[in-house]
Amino acid sequence: MGFKVAVVGATGNVGREMLTTLAERNFPADEIVALASSASVGKEVSYGEDDILKVQALDTFDFKGIDIVLSSPGGKVSAQFAPRAAKAGAVVIDNTSYWRMDPDVPLVVPEVNPQAIAGFEKRGIIANPNCSTIQMVVALKPLHDLARIKRVVVATYQSVSGAGRAAMDELFSQTRAIYVNDPVKPEQLTKQIAFNVIPHIDVFMDDGSTKEEWKMAVETRKILDPDIAVTATCARVPVFIGHAEAVTVEFERPLSEDRARAALRDAAGVIVVDHRADEGYVTPAEAAGEDAVYVSRIRRDPTVPHGLNFWVVADNLRKGAALNAVQIAEILAADYLGGRRRAGRTNVEPLRRKTANA
Ligand SMILES: NC(=O)c1ccc[n+]([C@@H]2O[C@H](COP(=O)([O-])OP(=O)(O)OC[C@H]3O[C@@H](n4cnc5c(N)ncnc54)[C@H](OP(=O)(O)O)[C@@H]3O)[C@@H](O)[C@H]2O)c1
Repeated sequence: MGFKVAVVGATGNVGREMLTTLAERNFPADEIVALASSASVGKEVSYGEDDILKVQALDTFDFKGIDIVLSSPGGKVSAQFAPRAAKAGAVVIDNTSYWRMDPDVPLVVPEVNPQAIAGFEKRGIIANPNCSTIQMVVALKPLHDLARIKRVVVATYQSVSGAGRAAMDELFSQTRAIYVNDPVKPEQLTKQIAFNVIPHIDVFMDDGSTKEEWKMAVETRKILDPDIAVTATCARVPVFIGHAEAVTVEFERPLSEDRARAALRDAAGVIVVDHRADEGYVTPAEAAGEDAVYVSRIRRDPTVPHGLNFWVVADNLRKGAALNAVQIAEILAADYLGGRRRAGRTNVEPLRRKTANA
């Protein structure tokens, strides 16, 4: 018997990618349920190459019998439904920011702190970090193990898919509008995004930073080491998929470029592409659709005693969201929920074959 899985936010950017990733990685699921707002009831979403699922309403769904919930419906919705699902016996792996800093909720990147998954018992919820944090900590972990990181300075270049489907549509429609001389009206993002860069993601905090910048600092400390100082500047760029980051790291101990490069080459989930020549680095367009975190432009920072600079790129919908959540689900299923599987559940809709509806 496999697991019963519900995907909440199944019609969204992250939810659709979760369904794709579950199917691609052959997650041991007997049944998958697609949930979204009541406005989407009856819509169809793909599960892998051959299957389609009919969307059901989250509001009225009974989670009894569901083992694992992969969730991305936005923070407010998650705040309400996740405890309800956990109470019914499911473990919720949540992509929103709502639960991440709750001390009773583990915040997990499987390449960095897989042992934290054990803490799911407290609330029945595991949080997936922010997309920008995930790709950065995957690259920082092997370097921290070698020379202990003191301080990180990061500037992000984040794609519009990180702000949801509507923001992707906005980049497309604004780009078109500029070509045909129509007026440009920002709706999802605060300013024009086509042919522009916006240094503002999430709300402003009292100290002048944005919440996205704050998240990168506090989440890195929760996942990797509470003593690391992180300062971030996060910007939205006119790219559909893939976040890039310029990262500057100061270490306690010496770390040569060569040792850093070797450690990154050996690190789980990382691919180093660093040729110091035309095309010898990775850009977001090349990382879209890929699972790896790509590290390029590794070089010494000569302005501090033990410093390195590098460039990190990943697909924010995959490693930054769906893949990381499915990796957590894989560990949860294999190491913690094996004994929970039961036969004879009836409240989940079986998979339907796409061909049967074509
Ligand atoms: N995109 C990323 O890179 C990324 C990375 C990490 C985390 N996240 C987080 O994941 C969440 C979703 O992001 P996204 O990019 O997938 O957004 P999105 O494309 O706008 O999709 C939002 C999803 O949430 C559903 N939803 C909205 N209100 C709901 C309600 N009241 N009840 C049930 N479902 C509801 C939507 O369903 P309908 O279609 O029915 O409205 C849709 O399926 C956000 O919290 C975001 O911060 C995103």
